[in-house]
Amino acid sequence: MFLRIWIVLFIIFISYTIGLYMFCDDGTILKPDENIIAGRNTWQEKNCQSCHQLYGLGGYMGPDLTNIISTKGVNRAKTFIKYGTGKMPDMSLSDEEVNNLIAYLSWIDNTGKSEITPDKIHWTGTYIIKEKAW
Ligand code: HEC
Repeated sequence: MFLRIWIVLFIIFISYTIGLYMFCDDGTILKPDENIIAGRNTWQEKNCQSCHQLYGLGGYMGPDLTNIISTKGVNRAKTFIKYGTGKMPDMSLSDEEVNNLIAYLSWIDNTGKSEITPDKIHWTGTYIIKEKAW
């Protein structure tokens, strides 16, 4: 009796696992292509993270860029990255590097939402994750 239950459970487990690996990952959203990986490398080489955050983690000189593509659009992001501003440096990136960075940021954008509301930003520029942590 018990053996039969275990055999049934084992078969269900194996079929579920195989089904999960074969059918549930369509590989379109999270699988990074070459451009995305190149963009990630540029992001690391140019140290964008020292001023920007992804999901609230990183430097605090510039804004969180997790959802910058869906909220502000590709053209605005491209212009900032290509030319810099008074506050953000112009890093003399090639068009290819800029496009790869956009591909990387779009990919990050697809991974989820990072909602940092203005009332969560402390006057020092850091984020208030929890009120009165001490
Ligand atoms: C020295 C700090 C610094 C570095 C390094 C830096 N940024 Fe920025 N970035 C800023 C600041 C500050 C702003 C806001 C600029 C402004 O409002 O004038 C900004 C703005 C942006 C914006 C536009 C945000 C918006 O609100 O639309 C994008 C996109 C961006 N940066 C991408 C990058 C990328 C990609 C890199 C790396 C190649 C990078 N930044 C490196 C400081 C930096």
